[in-house]
Amino acid sequence: MEIFADTSDIDEIQKLWDGGLIQGVTTNPSIIAKQYGTTNNWHNVIKEICHIVNGPISAEVTSTEVGEMVQEGRELSEIHERVVVKLPCTPDGVHACKVLTTYMDIRVNMTLCFSVAQAVLASNAGAAFISPFIGRMDDVYHSGVNLVEQIQNAYLNDMNKAPKILAASIRSVEHLNQVAQYADIATCPPKIIWKVFEHNLTVSGLKQFSEDWKKANG
Ligand code: E4P
Repeated sequence: MEIFADTSDIDEIQKLWDGGLIQGVTTNPSIIAKQYGTTNNWHNVIKEICHIVNGPISAEVTSTEVGEMVQEGRELSEIHERVVVKLPCTPDGVHACKVLTTYMDIRVNMTLCFSVAQAVLASNAGAAFISPFIGRMDDVYHSGVNLVEQIQNAYLNDMNKAPKILAASIRSVEHLNQVAQYADIATCPPKIIWKVFEHNLTVSGLKQFSEDWKKANG
């Protein structure tokens, strides 16, 4: 399973990429607005990320009507060849996905996916990635990890056109451990990626090795 960073923080992205910890990046309007507001030219932020990371960079449309989404998707895709256009799982989103993938050869990540049926429709429309939201499913007392497993099962029946499963809304290292069995990619906030290394047996084991080495060397 590949790991993407779910952030638009350039410094974090640079550190994670240089450290070999990520293979791509995802953003959404909330992430961009929180960090840069809506007045700055956020397309430049996406361009900068594309210059750091040699992998897929998801940039999401902010419009909700099919024609506007297609137009916005085209503009986003022109920022850099690594940009993947992120569209919501709505009828207009699926329609825009079909137009962008079929007629313009633009890769699409269908986001805000909360059911197998949405994942199937996104696949049929030509999506390259599907983003089921684990944490937000858990928030409403449905297992997000089960959803990812069910989508994987559905796609196994139709391998030819299956989008990559990009598990999103990851809230813990445990989420990561669990979706690794079913997802192609998990996109995580940087703090979760760093937390992976905080396993207490890794920390205490390393402390012990260092102490033993120092003792043996006087
Ligand atoms: C992914 O594509 C989404 O941007 C993100 O994972 C949403 O996470 P959240 O539910 O924690 O906001």
